[in-house]
Amino acid sequence: MNTEVLGAPSTGAAPGGTDPSRAAPLLELRHMSKHFGAVQALSEVNLEVHAGKVTALVGDNGAGKSVTLKTIAGIHPPDSGQIYWEGRPVHIRSPRDSAGLGIETVYQDLALCNNLDIVQNMFLGREVTRRFLLDENAMESAAVETLASLNVTTVRSVRQAVASLSGGQRQAVAVAKAVMWNSKLVIMDEPTAALGVAQTAMVLNLTRRLAERGLAVIFVSHNFNDVFAVCDQIAVLYLGRMVASIPAAHLDRQMVVDLVTTGTTTRPVPTLAQGQGA
Ligand SMILES: Nc1ncnc2c1ncn2[C@@H]1O[C@H](COP(=O)(O)OP(=O)(O)OP(=O)(O)O)[C@@H](O)[C@H]1O
Ligand SMILES: [Mg+2]
Repeated sequence: MNTEVLGAPSTGAAPGGTDPSRAAPLLELRHMSKHFGAVQALSEVNLEVHAGKVTALVGDNGAGKSVTLKTIAGIHPPDSGQIYWEGRPVHIRSPRDSAGLGIETVYQDLALCNNLDIVQNMFLGREVTRRFLLDENAMESAAVETLASLNVTTVRSVRQAVASLSGGQRQAVAVAKAVMWNSKLVIMDEPTAALGVAQTAMVLNLTRRLAERGLAVIFVSHNFNDVFAVCDQIAVLYLGRMVASIPAAHLDRQMVVDLVTTGTTTRPVPTLAQGQGA
């Protein structure tokens, strides 16, 4: 693997030493392939995801972004290839396996139950009890504290039903849930696709805050403004192949457009991971 590209620092820090991006990746996919009938959805995909960094996963429709996420989330087992977690080979066969490792996937609408309030959503399936009764006060304080620690200030009350929240607020609650349960990797699948300007800014802010807390984030988006606003590393899928994984600081928008639409760019990139960057 081309470590100069796949593990390159985005901050301009010297190689090696204490630069966290030189540490072992939290998650690594090696040579992941997956087909559906005649469709080769993923071909020998490599990806490194580091703690404390936001990694964008971009690509055109059908490039393989969702299939990649689903292999990490344990929904689609790969045909071949290996996933490494904290440097150790793991088999993620179900969403339960992935949650057990500390991986949380935040979907735009699917992650929360509309009819429940914020506290109930954040503790769903993990309710705190005291003498066989739900400890509502403890759960409410934990929910309030977590939202406050993320500077989520636009939610009026944690006893509001999620149905009454805006898209951005829902996204914030889903992210707060991931933080509260000590996730190590948060996967955000098109988190800003349906959001307005202010809500998008809030979600982008929250995404950065997750990285600052030392979590790894995978950020799937078609919006290159968002990608450049929050991502440290940009990984590009083209027809199921990983054609580049490069620090965002080494790319401009046109290069990303070129990579997404043609699988290559004619502009000079410090070191381009062509194909699998082997
Ligand atoms: N369950 C499935 N059964 C059959 N083919 C599938 C399945 N899921 C994905 N594919 C195929 O795999 C390829 C990659 O799809 P994927 O959903 O990962 O694309 P994507 O990059 O997420 O695109 P988009 O930006 O449109 O969401 C496509 O050709 C798609 O048709
Ligand atoms: Mg998709």
